[in-house]
Amino acid sequence: MLTNTDEAVDNGKLHDDKEDLSSNESGNRSFRDVLKINVSRRKVLAGSAVAAAAGFFTPAATAGLRGLGANSIDRDNDRINRELVGFRPVERASVLDTRMPTISEDYEYQSLIPWGTPIEPGITNEYAGDPSTRPTSSEAALQVGIGHDGMWFFPIDLKSRESFGPRYRTRSDEGMLCINHEFGRNDHVLGKAAPESLEDVRLSQNVHGVSVVRIKEHFDGWKVEQSEAARRITVNTPVKFSGPAADSDLLQNPAGNMPLGTVNNCGSGPTPWGTYLTCEENFNGYFGSASLSGDEFDTARTEEQARYGFDFDGFGYGWHFFDRRFDLSDPDYVNEQNRFGWIVEIDPFDGTQTPVKRTAMGRFKHEAVAIAQSSNGRIAAYMGDDQRFDYCYKYVSNEAWETAIAEGRSPLDDGKLYVARYDDDGTGEWLELTIDNPILADRFADQAELLVYARVAADLLGATPMDRPEWTTIGKNSEVYWTLTNNSQREVADAANPIAPNSDGHIIRTVDADDHMGTRFTWEIYLLAGDTRDTEGVFTDPDLAWSDASGRLFIGTDGGQPDGLQDQLTVIDTNKDVPEPKRLLVGVQSDEVTGFTVTPDRRTAFVNLQHPGNGDPASTNFPAAPDGVTIPRDSTLVLKRKNGAVIGS
Ligand code: FEO
Ligand code: CA
Ligand code: CA
Repeated sequence: MLTNTDEAVDNGKLHDDKEDLSSNESGNRSFRDVLKINVSRRKVLAGSAVAAAAGFFTPAATAGLRGLGANSIDRDNDRINRELVGFRPVERASVLDTRMPTISEDYEYQSLIPWGTPIEPGITNEYAGDPSTRPTSSEAALQVGIGHDGMWFFPIDLKSRESFGPRYRTRSDEGMLCINHEFGRNDHVLGKAAPESLEDVRLSQNVHGVSVVRIKEHFDGWKVEQSEAARRITVNTPVKFSGPAADSDLLQNPAGNMPLGTVNNCGSGPTPWGTYLTCEENFNGYFGSASLSGDEFDTARTEEQARYGFDFDGFGYGWHFFDRRFDLSDPDYVNEQNRFGWIVEIDPFDGTQTPVKRTAMGRFKHEAVAIAQSSNGRIAAYMGDDQRFDYCYKYVSNEAWETAIAEGRSPLDDGKLYVARYDDDGTGEWLELTIDNPILADRFADQAELLVYARVAADLLGATPMDRPEWTTIGKNSEVYWTLTNNSQREVADAANPIAPNSDGHIIRTVDADDHMGTRFTWEIYLLAGDTRDTEGVFTDPDLAWSDASGRLFIGTDGGQPDGLQDQLTVIDTNKDVPEPKRLLVGVQSDEVTGFTVTPDRRTAFVNLQHPGNGDPASTNFPAAPDGVTIPRDSTLVLKRKNGAVIGS
């Protein structure tokens, strides 16, 4: 059982305590000290497990009466289940042993691709959690990494189609899975607090990044298959830059080293053209100064370094002592730090493609990205910058994506970047981050510099500091959900962040004017997680968010949960006026539930258990059965409803 102390430890976050400290000194948070908080807010419905269980067995007499939309997947589903979210939830009092996951009795799960799984069968050794050894760095470069986070399933036949999208039924039994490996602490990965050699650093670097694996469903479950497109992308994989800042001096080093790698890949999102976007979040924590003390570094630190949270020892990874790229005080690598903090595009079907960092989307601590398509064919990408008092962003392409792709251009290279200001009357404005704005032209030499220091530009425009924007997702009716995970440092509430301090987090729902193309939006507080505390569906610290086309909103949590619960996956029917969270899954001790994707038929879902037990075998040995010895490993769970209905039903 968790104690209050455990909860506090979990809330400290595993990246490093410093991750969550604010580095925003812009003072934007005081510009609305006089508040009129009259924005609509939904009350959470206190559902009961008994009522939910009764709903599950009700015959389908009322099927089709709820206006679920013309979705054949859900019409099938309605013949089986009365409610859109009709499963029997995991009761809050039922989770007594968190060494293994707990799932709704209507569901079953399978563990897939835990840390150390070869990305193709037989390509290298498997690391299975033996505490007396660890993989070599060479083995790790061919194994699934650690810190499983955002991911996406690309059906294996997707590439053969001229157009991609939900209107095409594609293969649901085989595909390419792209998955982020956000982070793994040294004690988990190396078995010690700090690296002692370059080999140690290379092992740490090679468990970070992204995996692309081919997976297929067999009669006895999902397995990894051979594929020419399977690959690991690590901190040392060649990458390239595109967009307005691609040729900027700020991305070049005196050393002349080519751009390499991606790191702290948190959330993600697919593009309409069938590629994977991975988001670089807490990249600052991997840099440090090998030669300066803390005081010396702070004195020498630039305004931009401070704003992006760099300091002399980072999160304690120690890479900078053995790899000059990560030494902030090495003059030959002075701009290496600017090469991280981007959204990176990966082709899941081409193992030879060089991942591309899309500079038009700005540099900040990218959590995740959700793309909406406007009726004019252009796209809008909604993105959070996860730090206390940081911002919500939107990128809008200048071209229709199909035109751009057909003519060999990327819709992600040419567009407008905006940051959100939430006004107290339930409306808001997207403020364009453009060098054409005299305020920004006074500060930056050109659009490239502005994009490299997007946080600084956003400060100058008076964006609204938020309670840690995590994931975004596009809802059934094209509305956007934003998870704000928590903010224990908030002292002054405002309309969009109405709890001070905000220990439990909340979810905001926005609706863009002009079909995602405009600069105005409306917004409301969709849910205050604190309001769930008295309900059966209690959850806190919302992080992962994904909505299916029928309006089921899946929320994964990251933070100590009340009442002995562990981090969890909960589902909300957004067609209802009142949110009623239903708990589908509870993870293991000290993990985080993050990353979510489904097959096209929505009969199979994938969700990740990140850092189970914080890597401590005394806590859990997952995916191994409890033995007190085996090192727990980050894993993907494959979820299925036992009756074969869609996930979340
Ligand atoms: Fe990587 Fe903000 O979670
Ligand atoms: Ca997250
Ligand atoms: Ca988080």
